[in-house]
Amino acid sequence: MLRRNFLRSIVGLVLASLTGLRPALGRAGGSPRFDHGVASGDPLSDGFILWTRVSGASGDSLPVRWLIASDPDMTRVVRQGVVRTDDWSDYTVKADVRGMPSGSTFYYRFEIDGVESVVGRTRTLPEDAVDRARFAVVSCSNHPAGYFNVYRDIASTGDLDAVIHLGDYIYEYGPGQYATEHADRLGRLPEPAAELQSLDDYRRRHAQYKSDPDSIAMHRQHPLIAVWDDHEIANDAWRGGAENHQDDEGGWQDRRDAAIRAWFEWMPVRGVPSGADTRIFRRFRYGNLLSLIMLDTRLHGRDRQPDAGASVTPESVSTALQDPERRMLGHRQEGWLRRTLAADSETTWQVIGQQVMLAPVLAPDLGPLLDHERPSMLPREQLDHYVALSEGNPPMVLDTWNGYPHAREALLRDLQQLARNPVVLSGDLHTSMANNVVPHDGEKPVAVEIMPPAVSSPGFDEYLPLREPDALTRATQAVNPAVRYMDTQRRGWVRLTLTSVECAAEWHLVDTVHSRDYTKVVDGRFAVRSGDIGAGLRDIRRE
Ligand SMILES: [Fe+2]
Repeated sequence: MLRRNFLRSIVGLVLASLTGLRPALGRAGGSPRFDHGVASGDPLSDGFILWTRVSGASGDSLPVRWLIASDPDMTRVVRQGVVRTDDWSDYTVKADVRGMPSGSTFYYRFEIDGVESVVGRTRTLPEDAVDRARFAVVSCSNHPAGYFNVYRDIASTGDLDAVIHLGDYIYEYGPGQYATEHADRLGRLPEPAAELQSLDDYRRRHAQYKSDPDSIAMHRQHPLIAVWDDHEIANDAWRGGAENHQDDEGGWQDRRDAAIRAWFEWMPVRGVPSGADTRIFRRFRYGNLLSLIMLDTRLHGRDRQPDAGASVTPESVSTALQDPERRMLGHRQEGWLRRTLAADSETTWQVIGQQVMLAPVLAPDLGPLLDHERPSMLPREQLDHYVALSEGNPPMVLDTWNGYPHAREALLRDLQQLARNPVVLSGDLHTSMANNVVPHDGEKPVAVEIMPPAVSSPGFDEYLPLREPDALTRATQAVNPAVRYMDTQRRGWVRLTLTSVECAAEWHLVDTVHSRDYTKVVDGRFAVRSGDIGAGLRDIRRE
């Protein structure tokens, strides 16, 4: 048996050399393909991460060539190299390219056995004097909930420096669970067909999301700067667990490690996970114009939400909210953030990308807003529970910074003392918002907050049977004057433009994610001037 296999492999090698083919190392069946397109991300002033994944391969150590050109036809190749991949990394491929000129656009592709990937486009960070930076800001891309029309819209926008993804890039649920009501009709049933638990599960879910044509189109067009939120692992995660993780689902640490490993494999981000000490907080410098500071408010140092767990009472929630020791970022990240804020003495703006709403926002009384004759995704019992909770205007959603008021006040003090024109980007809530961020005992904003709606996750409008479409917006703004803009009904993205004078945000909203045909409108437009954060956001729709 051994001898026959040996002979077969010798014959295979001879045939391969006779036909001019390189021997396929340990590969079994089929020719390799790049089914998940290409992506780039984590730009530096002299480099970036290039990403792809080889499909239809098995075995060890496949060599994958990458090429970088200065033109989209790939005729003027300026750099190339080979990276190897295997089943240990799920055949994902990453090239950490350095030594490139700053502020430049490049085109790239991968090759294996003569098979070429699509061509992607990417950019190095600019240095020195920078006039302008432009970003698409997104969060909450839920595959079964709808088509990624928002990604397609971003792909057709040519002049962006990067796409900033604030998390919920994938969702962990199986069929019949959250936001899968339309999945069958849309041809977007979750794969695998169960809630994610194992490394293989998380890998297959990432593969499904990255098979989406609109996702492929966006990634090949723009570099990505991403952080995870909770659903890359499990709903309402904190450092020691998650609302959607039960003891009978195995160990939290195992599930978390599997999810994180798959994320690092499948996302165009630098580095590999290193056990419990995995950090994704990091900074990107756009010359003298801005620092983009990305944080982890989810897994690194977050204490448990005050309203989570089996033995929650109104008293226990109140005690937790008053506890000055409860953390959102954790000591190590807090220290890193303070040092980073203080170190950027030359930049005009400090943009902080993170997961959950920062501004202190009170919930409106829901009772008068609802019409129970109208359809809702929630059962009546649950709606009644939310209505009861909302009486007396408590802080809205305790999974946000609203559940960590002491940690928030400490952060706002740091922003006030150390930051240069802080603009905070937040996702998670599936709601467009523009907020002035005013400390508890202050009068003026110390930061402004820009929140894109979801790419496709359902908003409040699909859960609450509102009497009027804008009832929740009007009621929220009535009790929160710092909420300058809010839209609960449409999915979309925020276009953020920064110059030395001004930071402007535009909400690009699509009318549907349940059809591939969509109409886009630019709705909210707000801006803040550098050196004048205390004046807050101004509405520039009619300027
Ligand atoms: Fe989400």
